[in-house]
Amino acid sequence: MVIQSDKELQALKRIGQIVAITLAEMREQVKPGITTGELDAIGARILAQHGSVSAPIAVYDFPGATCISLNNEAAHGIPGSRVIEPGDLVNIDVSAALDGYFADTAASIPVPPVSDLKQRLCDCALEAQQNAFAVARAGNKLSDIGRAVEMTATRCGFSVIRELPGHAIGRTLHEKPTVLNFYHPTSDRYVLPKGLVITIEPFLTTGARHIKEAKDGWTLLTTDNSLAAQYEHTIVITEGKPLILTACE
Ligand code: CO
Ligand code: CO
Repeated sequence: MVIQSDKELQALKRIGQIVAITLAEMREQVKPGITTGELDAIGARILAQHGSVSAPIAVYDFPGATCISLNNEAAHGIPGSRVIEPGDLVNIDVSAALDGYFADTAASIPVPPVSDLKQRLCDCALEAQQNAFAVARAGNKLSDIGRAVEMTATRCGFSVIRELPGHAIGRTLHEKPTVLNFYHPTSDRYVLPKGLVITIEPFLTTGARHIKEAKDGWTLLTTDNSLAAQYEHTIVITEGKPLILTACE
């Protein structure tokens, strides 16, 4: 959506803070011994306490309030009986709606002991997100975002997952335009307007550029079982720095 009023901005700020708080609380609990189902229950409780509804459930009938994906799982991991172990790379993606407005945020959390490769992957994905923020402003092209992510990944020696982009958001979870994580000429034609609400969510891997669906029908795995990391914020395009709706205040 493109924000037209202060009322809309305030509504987006509210749901942005709810998903930010939920992710922060879940992140605190990521440690060896906890199951992904227990983590998800924490998230579900916090979302409900704030009167919000899980977007994966509301929009896609996903079997979990949040998506929790480990190691070679890039996205849409189903929370359940799996136990977090030392050395795991845990991605938590939280999206929810309040009063008809949506926000979406995610982070990859490495569980100690953290290998050099995992640390570098996470650092590079965060750097890609920062570099994308730096070009996400009114008047720039949509393709500037993809180029920034792709160039950062390449410089680190990592890959961008082609099939997993960011997206516009606001009145539903996934809106147009799609925010590719790599340069594509079709995105040259779209100039970012002031007030556009999008996610920036670089998906990087230590290997493959593609994903495959697991037998459960939801989980997306890297095709070569390489590690994946993703960081996501919902932002508003302005004439200056983007307004990050899902940063904890
Ligand atoms: Co997300
Ligand atoms: Co998203």
